Amino acid sequence: MIPSLALVLATSVTAAFATAQHAHSDFKVTLSSTSGGASGRRARIAASNPTSSEPLLEYFNGTDLQWYGNVSVGTPPQVFAVVFDTGSPSFEIPGTACGAPCATQHKFDSSASSTFFDLDFPSTIEFGTGIGVDPVVGDNWKLWLEEVADVVQIADLELPLGAFFLIVNQTTTFSPDPFDGIFGLSPQSGIFDSAGYDAVFGMFFSPHSVGGAGEMTLGGVDTTKFTGDLMYSPIVDADQGSWQIESLGISVNGQVERSLQQNLTLIFDSGTSNILFEQPVAEAIYAQISPDIKANPEEPGTYGIACSRIASLPAEIEITFAGSPNFKMTIPSSELSVGPFPGNPELCQTLINVSLGYNLIGLSLFKHYYSVWDIAGQRMGFAPNGF
Ligand SMILES: *[C@@H]1O[C@H](CO)[C@@H](O)[C@H](O)[C@H]1NC(C)=O
Ligand SMILES: *[C@@H]1O[C@H](CO)[C@@H](O)[C@H](O)[C@H]1NC(C)=O
Ligand SMILES: *[C@@H]1O[C@H](CO)[C@@H](O)[C@H](O)[C@H]1NC(C)=O
Ligand SMILES: *[C@@H]1O[C@H](CO)[C@@H](O)[C@H](O)[C@H]1NC(C)=O
Ligand SMILES: *[C@@H]1O[C@H](CO)[C@@H](O)[C@H](O)[C@H]1NC(C)=O
Repeated sequence: MIPSLALVLATSVTAAFATAQHAHSDFKVTLSSTSGGASGRRARIAASNPTSSEPLLEYFNGTDLQWYGNVSVGTPPQVFAVVFDTGSPSFEIPGTACGAPCATQHKFDSSASSTFFDLDFPSTIEFGTGIGVDPVVGDNWKLWLEEVADVVQIADLELPLGAFFLIVNQTTTFSPDPFDGIFGLSPQSGIFDSAGYDAVFGMFFSPHSVGGAGEMTLGGVDTTKFTGDLMYSPIVDADQGSWQIESLGISVNGQVERSLQQNLTLIFDSGTSNILFEQPVAEAIYAQISPDIKANPEEPGTYGIACSRIASLPAEIEITFAGSPNFKMTIPSSELSVGPFPGNPELCQTLINVSLGYNLIGLSLFKHYYSVWDIAGQRMGFAPNGF
């Protein structure tokens, strides 16, 4: 993992970038097979290149926060709602050892699974962004974990036996979430290796204003969920474990400002709601939207403007990406507001936070594009989803 990403983050629980102290197996959620125990337990899928899709539900609380879907674990299967998080590397669900801190979530009962293995190795993970718009302060998004292994199934894709983590304790920031855990999908994810699927997945999200539906397709893409051709950009610095591609410039409301015409490496994180840019980039963008968008000292890293003004501000952010050919994606003005700050109903938070040392794109963009996460091809693809 990249040191700077050792930042962990995740807001959407996303754990976008998690900083994980998983020294042991380097946790691959690759659910790498550790023994043959469970393979053949269920009928294998016969088709040579299967695909299968999982619906995703939206977590909405004043603003679009996160999408999540089901995974089943163990024999017989126990079902968990998880965020499929391209910003973190590993799979975590609460275990029965997590008492009060996990009171509102489903907990995996390992004693009820005939295929369970306890790898008996403790670790922790911290997230650099939290769920939705909740602030990340120090290590206030942290999970304490125990490494285990069992069979896992997502939609029709079966992972015979892999290592993952049971949550034994967590910070209270996770309590309101309507989901139980996080399923990390890094560009090195090996989940497809033993399952006979092509190593690619597609993700569809849509804004709450049109229903907030979502879907993840494993092994391919759902061509009914986008229009036009997919445009691809290669992953850069893949060894850092993040889905990141190169942008060549940003324009705002059609204006091309010189300081924004530079290459930036942008991390794509399905677990983060909004956007994080380094300060000069964030402020150059805001300067073109309105001089009245100002840093909010109450919540370091955030910016805001009077709620009474925000709806009428044009704030179309167009980003050019490297590809063959290069292509553009646009974040519409409707994403500018992420709602009032807690404790200050007149002041609305704007979509870009300042980060230290990295630039990250979350659901403010993905809600408007179908995205293809091509592990085999080490590239990302996008096409408008019509919303
Ligand atoms: C996940 O599973 C639960 C219980 O099995 C079910 O009620 C829920 O509708 C499922 N969610 C999705 C998104 O399919
Ligand atoms: C921006 O900062 C606010 C306040 O700390 C936080 O709630 C929100 O999650 C941050 N957004 C991102 C994308 O990290
Ligand atoms: C769980 O973590 C909290 C910090 O978030 C800590 O105060 C508490 O003592 C821990 N509980 C257990 C059982 O370790
Ligand atoms: C919704 O947001 C409010 C205000 O930020 C917060 O107090 C509440 O806990 C949230 N509800 C849920 C279910 O997340
Ligand atoms: C910007 O990125 C493109 C595509 O990766 C690359 O060809 C070009 O050399 C880069 N420009 C600079 C100034 O680094």
